Amino acid sequence: MPAIPVSQISLEGKKALVRCDFNVPVNHGQITDASRIDASLNTIRHILSHGGAAVLCSHLGRPKERTPELSLKPVAEYLSTVLGKRVALAPDCIGEFSGRMVRDLSMGEALLLENLRFHPEEEANDRDFSHELARGKQVYVNDAFGTAHRAHASTVGVTQFLRERAAGFLMVRELEALRAVTEHPAHPYVLILGGAKVSDKIGVIKAMLTRVNLILIGGAMAYTFMKARGFAVGKSRIEEDKVDLARELFAIAAQRHVPFVLPVDHVVAASAADDASVQTVSNIPGDKMGLDIGPRTVVEFIQHLASARTIVWNGPLGFFEIPAFAEGTFKVGEAVANLSGVSTLIGGGDTAAAFVNQPWASKFTHISTGGGATLEYLEGVELPGVKALEVA
Ligand code: 3PG
Repeated sequence: MPAIPVSQISLEGKKALVRCDFNVPVNHGQITDASRIDASLNTIRHILSHGGAAVLCSHLGRPKERTPELSLKPVAEYLSTVLGKRVALAPDCIGEFSGRMVRDLSMGEALLLENLRFHPEEEANDRDFSHELARGKQVYVNDAFGTAHRAHASTVGVTQFLRERAAGFLMVRELEALRAVTEHPAHPYVLILGGAKVSDKIGVIKAMLTRVNLILIGGAMAYTFMKARGFAVGKSRIEEDKVDLARELFAIAAQRHVPFVLPVDHVVAASAADDASVQTVSNIPGDKMGLDIGPRTVVEFIQHLASARTIVWNGPLGFFEIPAFAEGTFKVGEAVANLSGVSTLIGGGDTAAAFVNQPWASKFTHISTGGGATLEYLEGVELPGVKALEVA
């Protein structure tokens, strides 16, 4: 049976271990994008207002041992502000001191455990560590969709020791959005892919070729595909060792009658720098690199998207962090957001980061908080963190 939503379990008088994905960008102790934290607030508030206590846990970054810069302290401070009540940070996720803090926690209160990955046992899905994490809690709630593709102690192992388990509101929403575009999508169905690497997207391209009617390619990965088609790519960042694979993907797409649309013009510069002198070209000169799709491509992409009924988008179409190379991503983004009668799913990671502060971002049907998790789901991989929530 699929996971039970947190709204359907009794929380009265119980301490819930709540796995969140608070893996947010932090710069000099400041959270620069809190969307992932905000996305779990409903679950946390629900537990607190239904007579429970929330023991929150997450990873931050990829530390192999205790690393002070990767402390969850800024997250505890942010949570205290947005929840309007103090959320203390336990100095560790297991151990006697933290155990005491969990014991002393009153119903209606929340506590955040320090970064799970300060212990290598977390990623090793260690049984004893999982047991320790479960200690003192009666319920397990997983709201960390972004980490659901990892079989770690806090996403999988712990469910052996906390039999009463549920999916948080964010987890439920993410899975519903992905199910909608996977199980019964309306056609025409268009996939927009961008980002740096073809290698990150091979699985998803192969899987989506059986479902979509059209693929639009932008971002640095477009240049590897362009090279495979014999176009000049200048100094663009390509993956030389993936050019053959790109040809293979073209062949599969042709067999399935799924057109692969590549950019027809490009915003180029000598380097990806703020002060670079920028040009728009149809053919990339030898001393320049492609850094964004050009204006003709923007128009062409928008025309292709106008009749779509389902759109899935993963990866920015240019180097959007630099304003001179952001236009393609934002213009196509705004056009997609303003389409009506179409289901739009924006894959997480860089694409979500690109759109998060845009006034039209709320018009997408769903912006996923998952990066790798979203891609793996679309690929058809069973997510271990979701599987572990299933009940017999
Ligand atoms: C993510 O940011 O995609 C998730 O938090 C998972 O992080 P990871 O790739 O370090 O496991």
